[in-house]
Amino acid sequence: MDIDAIKTQVDFEIGSVDSVRSLEAFRLKFLGRKGIIAQLTSSIPNLHPQERGAFGQEVNALKNKVSSLITEKQRSIASGSGESRQRTYDIGMPGIAQELGSLHPLTQVLNEICGIFKKMGFAVVEGPEIESEYNNFTGLNIPLEHPSRDVFDTFYLKGKERLLLRSHTSPVQIRVMKKQKPPLAVIVPGRVYRPDAVDASHSFMFHQIEGFMVDRNITFADLKGILEVFAKAVFGEDIKMRFRPHFFPFTEPSAEVDISCIICKGRGCSVCGKKGWLEILGSGMIHPNVFKHVGYDPKKYTGFAFGMGVERIAMLKYGINDIRIFFENDLRFLKQF
Ligand code: DAH
Repeated sequence: MDIDAIKTQVDFEIGSVDSVRSLEAFRLKFLGRKGIIAQLTSSIPNLHPQERGAFGQEVNALKNKVSSLITEKQRSIASGSGESRQRTYDIGMPGIAQELGSLHPLTQVLNEICGIFKKMGFAVVEGPEIESEYNNFTGLNIPLEHPSRDVFDTFYLKGKERLLLRSHTSPVQIRVMKKQKPPLAVIVPGRVYRPDAVDASHSFMFHQIEGFMVDRNITFADLKGILEVFAKAVFGEDIKMRFRPHFFPFTEPSAEVDISCIICKGRGCSVCGKKGWLEILGSGMIHPNVFKHVGYDPKKYTGFAFGMGVERIAMLKYGINDIRIFFENDLRFLKQF
């Protein structure tokens, strides 16, 4: 066999190799066990002893050439350069449908709540998760000795400025009021952080929605009216609401708000601890000291504020009994929303 003729054939045929399959056929033809190069090798003993050495070297060179052509071709097919990649598509294959994702249940509840307040004219404002001690505590009339300032109740950042991860969304009240004058109706969704041990009802990170309204002559009746609209929109028209006196440093008077138990309708069950009522938020009339901190005249303006936990609302709404499930991202849970 004429080695030069085979070389020409190799160069010619590699040019039309354009797929994994045709490359394999090429490889078998030249390098296979019964391929052309094997045949050349097995013909060596038949040659004149003086010709064997030179011929053997030529066969070897040819073999190396074919091998490196194959490697090169493999690479260009894999990287899809030129047309080779396109020709390996089978346009008759059925397509792979993209699965649609959905909004996280917490996002859905958060959007729903913000939507209700937006319809009543509230503006949605967000604030940073890293806050100053002033905005998180001092400006909100939370005294220096208050237990919530303790390192066991707030995540402080390293450094001299006493920055912290906000432990509630209330500091955004300070930010907004320092920048803007009344009338104000604002709703603040966002993440908050507390160094709590994680269990079925505690998480070191959760979501709150803060709301506040400031103007001349805002009264507790405005607070009641707005919250009633909110509670009925989220939990249904039959829901009952009650205000229970409470204490918060940033409001006076303060109240916690309960709704009638959505499981037992107020008769008493394990979810409401036989009380018939479920606590859903904290609220009150903004303390005059808070107004002083932001430069508002407390004789001129009054306002209400409230704050609620989004996880808690979502858990009540959907009958979820473990907060951790929101953060595990188990598709079997997420797909139900
Ligand atoms: N900041 C409070 C908390 O995280 C919740 C709260 C209570 C907010 C009463 C308010 C309020 O605006 O008036 O526990």
